[in-house]
Amino acid sequence: MLTARWHAERRAELLEQLPDNTIAVLPANPELIRNNDAEYPFRQHSNFLYLTGFNEPDALMVLRKQGNSSESILFVRPKDPAAEIWTGFRAGTEGATQAYGFDRAFTIDQIDAELPKLMDGAEFVAYPLNENKAFANRVFDWMETLAKGIRRGSAAPEATLDLADYIHEMRLVKTPEELAIMREAGRISAEGHIAAMMAAKPGCYEYQLEAEILHTFVRQGARFPAYNSIVGGGANACILHYIENNKAINDGDLVLIDAGAEVHGYAGDITRTFPVNGRFTGEQRAVYDIVLEAMKASIDELKIGNHCKTFHEKSTRILTQGMVDLGLLQGDVDGLIESGAHTRYFMHGTGHHIGLDVHDVGRYKLDGEWRMWQPGMVTTVEPGIYIQANDERAPEGFRGIGIRIEDDLVLTEAEPENLTAQVPKEADDIEALMRG
Ligand code: GLY
Ligand code: MN
Ligand code: MN
Repeated sequence: MLTARWHAERRAELLEQLPDNTIAVLPANPELIRNNDAEYPFRQHSNFLYLTGFNEPDALMVLRKQGNSSESILFVRPKDPAAEIWTGFRAGTEGATQAYGFDRAFTIDQIDAELPKLMDGAEFVAYPLNENKAFANRVFDWMETLAKGIRRGSAAPEATLDLADYIHEMRLVKTPEELAIMREAGRISAEGHIAAMMAAKPGCYEYQLEAEILHTFVRQGARFPAYNSIVGGGANACILHYIENNKAINDGDLVLIDAGAEVHGYAGDITRTFPVNGRFTGEQRAVYDIVLEAMKASIDELKIGNHCKTFHEKSTRILTQGMVDLGLLQGDVDGLIESGAHTRYFMHGTGHHIGLDVHDVGRYKLDGEWRMWQPGMVTTVEPGIYIQANDERAPEGFRGIGIRIEDDLVLTEAEPENLTAQVPKEADDIEALMRG
């Protein structure tokens, strides 16, 4: 778990980058209704969690920077002994300063009275510009209040900055403390996949394998998966975001599982594809080994000095060559890639940043160029080949095969560190595990 000091260091780092005379405001997530008076499990906004560690809804963080001085303020729900009997502990303003290390705290109901005062005279206001219209409207209201008070000497900020952009760039490069948590997310995610492989048998239902995974996550404290688990038997593996998970898996079919645990807000993201009966057929194995070869070659591309797209180019080339070798495509590999013909069978990217969000933040291009890798960035590598069951252009034996293999890797000065290597991915190793 990250400490209050760690979060305070992130705030200090952010303040350092903001221009002088800035006020930064960042809202927490609200609670969301699932139906009637039942709520979805609360998940804090990742940017807010990163800068505060504060896991309650209805809160707002304010940072002010002026000359050499700065100030951190947290607006929170008030302590309410009666409400806390029903819905649990609230840190309150005292907790915000004492446990979370903020300089000052107010209750959230004081926001419209206090925010214009805090904003008065600042040159810049920084907030997430492009994600929350309701919040942007509130910022507008606070600025309008100030603008209307001009004869009393108040002044609204002159310019806006996108606070999210600053935070996203910070989140992209993980600290050692974050990597320790991501190792744990990787380990628990891997255990879930191993449990599912060991439990699989012909005729089992997709949700029964999902249950093995969730059971493994929850009993280790990872109460929620980082995203909805995908468990697709047979041709369901060819539906990229299949989450119905309600079909029986027939003898002879592959099953594709894409699932990851969330640990202290950080995601694991693993995909494995294996035969439900423990033995790959010749056709399944042929496709599998091409995807695995692409994956390994792509992992080799994860090094400092490469930009963040070479691993996708590598997978694309090997997978396209494989499609030709299997008779799925005809023509020369360069021409097929050029024309996009390969996207018939490989229609997604080879990976994405991962961290507090499974599809994590941070720009992929800087000034129009693919950005270079830096130590501490974490990416998935997840090539795949998906041959729809009704694809009449594909040789019959390959129809309905969908395969993806995915691990999470940390960029380092040396070899990348694989956070999810514990789950076997060599076809022989998967078969051996399933025999045992
Ligand atoms: N689980 C989502 C993804 O692999 O991108
Ligand atoms: Mn992924
Ligand atoms: Mn995934």
